[in-house]
Amino acid sequence: MRVNGRGLNVADTQAGEQTEYHWPHRHLLSLEDLSAEDIRFLLTTALGFDGVSTRSIKKVPALRGRVVVNLFFEDSTRTRASFNLAASRLSADVLEMAGKGSSVSKGETLIDTARNIEAMGVDVIVCRHHHSGAAAHLARSVDCSVINAGDGQHEHPTQGLLDILTIAKRTGRTEGFDFSGLTVAIVGDIAHSRVARSNVYGLIKLGAKVILVGPPTLLPGAFADIGCELSNSLDEVLPRVDVVNMLRIQFERQTGQAFPSVREYSTRFGLNAQRLTRAKPDLLVMHPGPMNRGVEIDSAVADGPNSAILQQVANGLSVRMAALFLVSGAPA
Ligand code: CP
Repeated sequence: MRVNGRGLNVADTQAGEQTEYHWPHRHLLSLEDLSAEDIRFLLTTALGFDGVSTRSIKKVPALRGRVVVNLFFEDSTRTRASFNLAASRLSADVLEMAGKGSSVSKGETLIDTARNIEAMGVDVIVCRHHHSGAAAHLARSVDCSVINAGDGQHEHPTQGLLDILTIAKRTGRTEGFDFSGLTVAIVGDIAHSRVARSNVYGLIKLGAKVILVGPPTLLPGAFADIGCELSNSLDEVLPRVDVVNMLRIQFERQTGQAFPSVREYSTRFGLNAQRLTRAKPDLLVMHPGPMNRGVEIDSAVADGPNSAILQQVANGLSVRMAALFLVSGAPA
């Protein structure tokens, strides 16, 4: 697959002939919604944007004159900064809006907030919200494009895409993004994780085997129906995988006590230097952040040679440039 001048229309077939590919989505709400071809095209477009971040002048005019709003109803460090920088590097005007400090605190609804912002001539709303389905609800209610920056425990599509791009780069699979033969473990609080859901959909579509690991209380059986292997033993799974993606325990989304203690969780499911000796030497260690060092991952691993954690963050910028660029050019 190749990216043409504007990054939109050219895809190669395996036989080498060219076929027209038109990015079809005005919104980016989930990886469940995307085809394998869509995912490959977005990632290829992201690769095309990688070079912008290493130039002395980190800007291209692709979205000059467009307006992007970051509408965040939940805290964020990586996603928010990354979308802001991505939009700025594409020369869009960027408006930052947080739930806190907006008229939402006076009772204004999400939809009224978004419609009022849209009335100021906005092209893309990037939305993070604590309710699953909030971004899709927004997309049905406004005319501009909507990108889901994390909705409750549903999906975090750009996190899934940046994780997949990181795996592709580190395992030499950026040509075609064919993940067959690759085994990825996602470990921890699967039940409450939008990152896990987006990774599962994206990785399976590209041909990877996905093993979900965690305590039974945090491991919904429904994931087996979409092709995942489920396990309660990190020690058993670790020697079999090429990539391990460690998740934070999302205490803010849990309603009961999912395991006896943080100490016991860490003993069974935390990745430390000793446990890492069970893995393949070139195991790729990932974490979406924010990390709870000493709980799901120890510093010796997070900052060690197997870790791709900061590369994930760097790749997020190119993925979000690609997402903003493609939804902005999609048919209305
Ligand atoms: N990975 C991620 O979504 O991080 P933030 O919550 O800091 O955006």
